[in-house]
Formats: sequence, C-alpha cells, structure tokens
Amino acid sequence: MAVAAAVAAALVVAAGGVVTERFETGRLSALDGDARLHARLDAVCADGRAIAEQFERTVRRRRFHPFVPADYEVVRRTLLRLRGPGLRFLEWGSASGIVTIIADVMGFDAYGIEIDAALVDTARTVAARHGSRARFVSGSFLPSGYEWRTHDGDTRTGTIATGESVYGELGFAPDDFDLVFGYPWAGEASVMCDVMRRYGRRDALLLLYGVDGVIRGYRGGREEVGPA
Ligand SMILES: C[S@@+](CC[C@H](N)C(=O)[O-])C[C@H]1O[C@@H](n2cnc3c(N)ncnc32)[C@H](O)[C@@H]1O
Repeated sequence: MAVAAAVAAALVVAAGGVVTERFETGRLSALDGDARLHARLDAVCADGRAIAEQFERTVRRRRFHPFVPADYEVVRRTLLRLRGPGLRFLEWGSASGIVTIIADVMGFDAYGIEIDAALVDTARTVAARHGSRARFVSGSFLPSGYEWRTHDGDTRTGTIATGESVYGELGFAPDDFDLVFGYPWAGEASVMCDVMRRYGRRDALLLLYGVDGVIRGYRGGREEVGPA
C-alpha cells in the first residue's frame, strides 16, 4: 500500500514535471509562432505599400484608376481580433491582393475578387512570393442580375464597375463567407451594404474601410456599434 502510494506520488511528480515542461515549451513555441506570424505580416504589408506607391507613380498619375490601398496596419489590427478557426474571408475589389493575403497568413480561408485582370496577376505573384494560398479571381463581385437603385431611381454605382460575376468560378456563393471586406469610395458603402443584405449570410460580418481610415462592421444589414 505504502509502495503503491509512493509510486502514485512519483507519477504525479513526474506528470507535473512533464506538464510543466510541455507548458513551457508550448508557451515558447506560441511566442515563436507569433513572432514568425508578425514578421510575415510585416513583409506582406511593406510589399503592399511599395506596390501601391509604384502603382500611383506608373498608373494613377497618367489616368484614373480606382485602386487606392487601405491602411494595411489598420486592416491587420482588425483582422487579428476577428480571426478564428475555419473562417472563410472574401475581399471585394482585392487589387494587389494584400488584404486577402494578410487574411490568409492569419489563418482565414481567404479569397479575393478583382475586376482588373492585371491586378489579379499582381496579386497571384505577391501571394506566391509570400508563400500564401490566398486565391484570386478576375471579374465582378456583384452577383449576376444584381441592380443597385436608390429611392429616387439612381442606378449609378460610382467606381464599382459592372462585369461578369465570378462566384461560379470561385466555387462559393456570397453567403458562403463569414467575413467580407471592401473599400468603397465615398457614397459606395450603401451599394456594398445592399449586396451583403440581399446575398450575404445574415450572421456574416461585412467590414468596410472608410475614406476616413476607419473600418466599420455591419451584420444583418445593420452597422455594429463602434469601429470594427
Ligand atoms: C479602393 S480599391 C480597394 C483595394 C483594396 N481592397 C484595398 O483595400 O487595399 C477598389 C478596387 O475595387 C476594384 N473593383 C471595382 N469594381 C469592382 C467589381 N465590380 N468587382 C471587383 N472589383 C472591383 C477596383 O479595380 C479597385 O482595385
């Protein structure tokens, strides 16, 4: 009996030792993992800023183009708070792909739709450079048959272009996504909210980056209180 008790006690000590050791190792590798995640995110964001500056010099100085980048650090902080296992993320108007790649690196199952095919090529190249599995499709994020109309009958969608809807090619419908991100120009947020209200899942979160640099969240067609 005494021997059994001693053996049991020894096992508890041993188990305690192992647990402590595992905990310490786990903590170290979690910190290590965080450092690696943030180093990757730093590299993606820096690449994104360089691409946007070059795009400004070589394209936007010559002609109008709607690609203006969001503040990637603001996006990064917001997505870090929202990530969770198995969440599917979609970016409407993904341009050079940086926001979608940030989401992928954080563990979202991430997709981007962009109407400018040249920018989709850029996004795929950037994803490959950063070892990201983010997927990009060229076409329109507006669902087939969608028509925007204000109360007084205005159907103009501003810089949101019309084109072939690509949810079929993507393999997912708008209501398959848990989070949708968009950067509408002034006056275009109502179009994105309308698309989400009509086609998105009721409990999905629509994140809109505003020209004021703030991200607002909408669920079920309503704005959530405070910035996202
Ligand atoms: C303001 S930029 C935002 C870029 C990126 N989302 C970001 O936040 O950095 C808007 C992008 O939407 C694209 N776009 C416009 N209409 C679109 C449509 N119907 N479907 C897909 N992309 C569209 C533009 O070509 C442009 O690259």
